[in-house]
Amino acid sequence: MDHSGLLAALIIMLFVFSVGAVPQLGGGLCAHLIQSAGFPCTEHRTKTEDGYLLGLQRVSSRSTIVRGEMGLPVLLIHGLFMAGDAWFMNSASQSLGFILADQGFDVWVGNVRGTRWSHGHVSLSVKNKEFWDWSWQELALYDLAEMIRYVNTITKEKLFVVGHSQGTIMSLAAFTKPDIVEMVKAAALLCPISYLDHITTGFVLRLVKMRVDEIILALGFHQLNFKSNIGTQIMDMMCDGHIHCDIWLSAITGKNCCFNDSRIDFYLEYEPHPSSSKNLHHLFQMIRKGSFAMYDYGMWRNLMRYSQPKPPVFDISQIPTSLSLWMGYGGNDGLADVIDVQHTLKELKSKPDLLYIEEYGHIDFLLSIKAKADVYDGMIRFFNSVQKVSSFK
Ligand SMILES: *[C@@H]1O[C@H](CO)[C@@H](O)[C@H](O)[C@H]1NC(C)=O
Repeated sequence: MDHSGLLAALIIMLFVFSVGAVPQLGGGLCAHLIQSAGFPCTEHRTKTEDGYLLGLQRVSSRSTIVRGEMGLPVLLIHGLFMAGDAWFMNSASQSLGFILADQGFDVWVGNVRGTRWSHGHVSLSVKNKEFWDWSWQELALYDLAEMIRYVNTITKEKLFVVGHSQGTIMSLAAFTKPDIVEMVKAAALLCPISYLDHITTGFVLRLVKMRVDEIILALGFHQLNFKSNIGTQIMDMMCDGHIHCDIWLSAITGKNCCFNDSRIDFYLEYEPHPSSSKNLHHLFQMIRKGSFAMYDYGMWRNLMRYSQPKPPVFDISQIPTSLSLWMGYGGNDGLADVIDVQHTLKELKSKPDLLYIEEYGHIDFLLSIKAKADVYDGMIRFFNSVQKVSSFK
């Protein structure tokens, strides 16, 4: 991609970040994607400590026989600009959410604050800038913590967690907290991220270098919503003829091997979901500094907030070895780069089970047409082995 193209894209992106109401799709995620595929699904709602109302869906098998012996709960945590629908985008035999349900797991689908399947805030509206005053730090310590607590309370079981991308950042940060990790039996992390200083996608690096995150915040844009009126027009422009859409996705995530191009229109009915500018800024801080730390407010405000000039780090060596981990990562992933994954592995005290797929990009772990054989079957074997070991204890 040439420079003028990138520059134009940048200017366009600036306009995308306009404040707009989150468009409400009628009905919940259950009604949209899950029940129509024949799976029993119920909507749940819970409240975080800081007042956000999160939507969760509970999905079980199509087969009444499998349903009779409900397995352990699995909580699915989606990535950035996505929501719980991400796990149900392909057919029932291809999508992780459906596959886990049909295999007898008690599937819980998480949706973080600001996404279309969450339900706002007890007192703030999406039009308030305070509503968008958070980053993945709050998603980890409030949203994920609350979702885990909620599922644990209802099922009275320790749960499995599956995260993709930002969902793995949230998981790794949350698992450093003893009161959260004690409710989790094991976790499977797809495209695991804690360090981000080796990302390879030129487009993102350029945005980082041009400090687009800081510009957006300085201009007073707090919500990133590609489905606002202007956002939609720009998405249409960028995705003209769909081929460009694919190029854009590759430019941001790395080359995906096994994407089904004829489903792009369908994916775009749901994706992308909104997030906050502060979250983008926090992610870009990680790329610039190479640290896995809390949000950096600048020295003086850090002193007031954290009583130290630099933000405290999330020390992943604190994750207890009693938590079984499984990780899947790809050679073409532009965001969860192999060097950064190795950095994460070096810091962890435990030795996760690893699956490396040379040809996989960032989105393949979610949407590859052959992800079941490549990724999910192995993940399920891992969960079953953990379940077996612990039932003998
Ligand atoms: C790709 O998507 C199209 C449209 O939904 C579908 O008909 C086709 O079966 C999919 N291909 C594969 C290999 O899953």
